[in-house]
Amino acid sequence: MNYRLTTVAGGQFGDEGKGKVTQNLASQFDIVARFGGGPNAGHTAYHEDRGKKLHKVVTHVVPSGILSRNVLINFIGPGCVIDPVLLQKEIQGLMELGLPYHTIYLSELTPLITPWDCKLDAMMNGAIDTTRRGIGPTYAHKRHRRALRVGDFIEYVKSPKTSQSWDLFYQESNRYKDVYDTKAEERLFVSIEEFEPWFKALVWLTKNINIAKKNFFLRDGDVHKVLEGKKDVRILAEGAQAVMLDNTFGTYPFVTSSDCMPSAAIGGIGLPPGLTTQEEVVLVFKAYSTRVGNGPFDTEIEGDLAEKIRQAGGEYGSTTKRPRRIGWLDLPDLKYAIELTGATKLYMTKVDVLSAKVVSEVLVCVRKDSDGKPTEWKTFKPFDVKGVKKDTDINGSLFQFISFLEESLGQHVDVISVGPLMDDLVETRVTVM
Ligand code: IMP
Repeated sequence: MNYRLTTVAGGQFGDEGKGKVTQNLASQFDIVARFGGGPNAGHTAYHEDRGKKLHKVVTHVVPSGILSRNVLINFIGPGCVIDPVLLQKEIQGLMELGLPYHTIYLSELTPLITPWDCKLDAMMNGAIDTTRRGIGPTYAHKRHRRALRVGDFIEYVKSPKTSQSWDLFYQESNRYKDVYDTKAEERLFVSIEEFEPWFKALVWLTKNINIAKKNFFLRDGDVHKVLEGKKDVRILAEGAQAVMLDNTFGTYPFVTSSDCMPSAAIGGIGLPPGLTTQEEVVLVFKAYSTRVGNGPFDTEIEGDLAEKIRQAGGEYGSTTKRPRRIGWLDLPDLKYAIELTGATKLYMTKVDVLSAKVVSEVLVCVRKDSDGKPTEWKTFKPFDVKGVKKDTDINGSLFQFISFLEESLGQHVDVISVGPLMDDLVETRVTVM
């Protein structure tokens, strides 16, 4: 089998609309996979049921390919981390909508976020203002070689003696007891009552979804069984978070703890590199910027204007509901993201938000000094996206804006999004380059 890989990545600080883009592309792929992150992510998409009723679906760990009937495998890769309680809830929500949950495969190598990890995250990461979902502590455990993985739980429940009892696993899951002093241990205390739902959720998950063994991509593994006879398998890797939140290349230390770059996709899914061809890297960015949590934000807008854009764009965290910080598009940062990822396709989302109802002008930061202070801006009139259904409908200031971006980036903006629905994605190439 040969694997043909396309990766969707965030070009800013997350929340660019990767879920929608993944959903849009998914029907061309056999497998959609998540390669990093956990329930800190929130991908919003829309599902139309058989009665044509539209449902907003927020996924956290399950790939957005779940919304496409053509996708045969939706894989939660070993590069992710999962919280069993939240994952059970997420999957039950998808089941209620009649979505094909039987296509979900969870790797047995994926580390488990324990209730202790969430407490530690809340205790030590105030300055970063994390999502408090235990992401950092779990990745740290993985590297410390102390993490519990899905497979450890399966081994545990195999024994008839321990199959439904959580007391021993409870003892084992506390990775902190020999590390922290008594005071810290008290603050980290998780009672068995708090632990019980976590254990039960793991039991539920192992009964209701497929667990992918270590050999998932090998000849005797599930991928070969499900896609039997296929020579070329098409895989869509759905990135979480974004370049500027990447643990290495982002605004460290104000970053997440996973690798968000497309380069992490092969490892975080477990694809055989020698059999994998990277075909496209799709970089998604908004026509403005947002950031949740602390850290540098060079083009940040304060006050009433930020509030107006926040309201118009619904800019509240899909995971934590925190109001997102708002800023203008940062061209130097976008160039950095494009060059680092080698993006072959650009999607610009939320163009409709910057209308005359919301803003009196649209700014783009063109240059910054070495401290990140903007030193040059370009200004455009607000955008009017009414009636924009195809390339040739784009005119006025939106046309000028896209032309300016394409010229500055030396690259086409391939698709723009002018509204929340799938039909609002418009293929666009305004300049002839
Ligand atoms: P953590 O990933 O919970 O450790 O949080 C680290 C930083 O990344 C915080 O500033 C979070 O707000 C931010 N972050 C994590 N996941 C997302 C996301 O999916 N969208 C936007 N920001 C995120």
